[in-house]
Amino acid sequence: MPRCLIVYFSQSGTTARVAESIAAGLHSSDYEVDLFNINGSPPPDFGGYDLLGIGSPVYYYRPPFNVSDYLRSMPVIRGLPVFVFMMYGTYRFDTGNRIRRALAGKGAREVGYFHAHGADLYPGYLKEGYLFSPGYPTEEELSQAEEFGRHVAARVEGGEYIMAEADRPPPPIYRFERFALGRWFFRNIYSRLFKADREKCTACGVCIQLCPSGNIVEGRGRRPVWGRNCLLCFTCQVQCPEEAVIWRLGWTLMRPFTIYNARSAARDASVDCSRIDPKSWLRVARGEE
Ligand SMILES: Cc1cc2nc3c(=O)[nH]c(=O)nc-3n(C[C@H](O)[C@H](O)[C@H](O)COP(=O)(O)O)c2cc1C
Ligand code: SF4
Ligand code: SF4
Repeated sequence: MPRCLIVYFSQSGTTARVAESIAAGLHSSDYEVDLFNINGSPPPDFGGYDLLGIGSPVYYYRPPFNVSDYLRSMPVIRGLPVFVFMMYGTYRFDTGNRIRRALAGKGAREVGYFHAHGADLYPGYLKEGYLFSPGYPTEEELSQAEEFGRHVAARVEGGEYIMAEADRPPPPIYRFERFALGRWFFRNIYSRLFKADREKCTACGVCIQLCPSGNIVEGRGRRPVWGRNCLLCFTCQVQCPEEAVIWRLGWTLMRPFTIYNARSAARDASVDCSRIDPKSWLRVARGEE
């Protein structure tokens, strides 16, 4: 039985759901499939697999750093068939190209590229009262993902694959945002703005356990200390049971971009958007409403 490894990153579960649907399509074509979410430990070695899938959400108009780091750390994989799938709330732009190019650079043979919408729980938008792509991926997108899995299996067996077109790059304003949200700024500015409110933090360790990049460690009195390897996923802030995580000045710095992006996307008929009460942003981010 041929074997497939699907490595993906998923914080709020949409990429995981699409990964499962693709796996169901592969199963129906007699594949044995292993799924691995990169949210802490390193993925297994893909030696011994006949097919590799890479799935990622779009973060700040690019792949999250843990996904790009994983791709960079891969050994050369001459000729291994690979497929890529992307999830996004508003605009994916050329994020998929970056992943596809990285895999091609390692010598992989692309056999499929899939993308779908995922409910966008980025706290910046929720705090402004915007929920993009609510309820996505839809049942239709999930069945397309399953079908995609079947097509991929057929292509590995020698079926024809016409390479999917490259996605368009972002317009200049989003390119500027992507630059301002690049790794240097993450390490030297945004990562340093987190702290726990001493009055509220109970040293429960939830933020440490849930951080997907291992960026939070125990400090004095078992209180969390943030490092410089942040993805800016905001899981620590959203999931802290005491609402004790503070991102000093961070939201103020981001707000002009956030408002511009949210208003532009809300005016765009190709993006689904529902308005929420900004006061309920945390409950929405936690999936409680
Ligand atoms: C921190 C953060 C940044 C995001 N940045 C973008 C983005 O630049 N463009 C976009 O279309 N969606 C963006 N999204 C939305 C996610 O790509 C989308 O919701 C995806 O489905 C989340 O995947 P997950 O549920 O597997 O974690 C962002 C979401 C978060 C939490
Ligand atoms: S989750 Fe909140 S309360 Fe728990 S250790 Fe982290 S900051 Fe403190
Ligand atoms: S925002 Fe918090 S949970 Fe997310 S990577 Fe940074 S430190 Fe970890």
